[in-house]
Amino acid sequence: MKKILTVIMAIMLSTSLFAGAKEEKRLASDMRMMLDAIVDMQKAAYYNDSRVLKASTDRLISGLDSMLAVNASTYLKKNQKHAAKFAEKRVKMIKMYADDLLISLAAGNIDDVISDYHQISRQCYSCHTRLRRK
Ligand code: HEC
Repeated sequence: MKKILTVIMAIMLSTSLFAGAKEEKRLASDMRMMLDAIVDMQKAAYYNDSRVLKASTDRLISGLDSMLAVNASTYLKKNQKHAAKFAEKRVKMIKMYADDLLISLAAGNIDDVISDYHQISRQCYSCHTRLRRK
């Protein structure tokens, strides 16, 4: 009985560790995609190119999807779990500012577009300064 329990525990542990690794890979690739998107957004703003600005903002939003879908504690290190709420808030704020950016863009309100852009990049830095592994 004890042996069976140990085997079951080992299987459960290894699958949950595996899920964690998959989660982290997905997180890293979404992050790289968001970096590409935000760099393109900045360039598009300088070139006053609203078509590229819209396309790259849409891309940024799609990169947020996996972060919005998972509990932040799944990708945070053990000693950072208490910061899950902080992380989830940053992700929600990015989504909110990105949605607002699209609305401001459609209305031709470039000042608001630029301010939303800055707010988005502040959320990225804020999370990285507090949570990113060295
Ligand atoms: C919720 C917190 C959080 C937010 C918000 C966030 N990041 Fe990250 N970012 C992380 C974590 C955690 C890692 C992962 C791994 C590490 O360095 O340990 C990471 C890694 C990255 C990486 C490196 C990926 C790789 O190749 O390993 C890039 C690039 C990046 N983020 C860009 C961004 C950009 C751009 C934004 C804003 C649009 C952003 N991040 C917002 C937490 C966040």
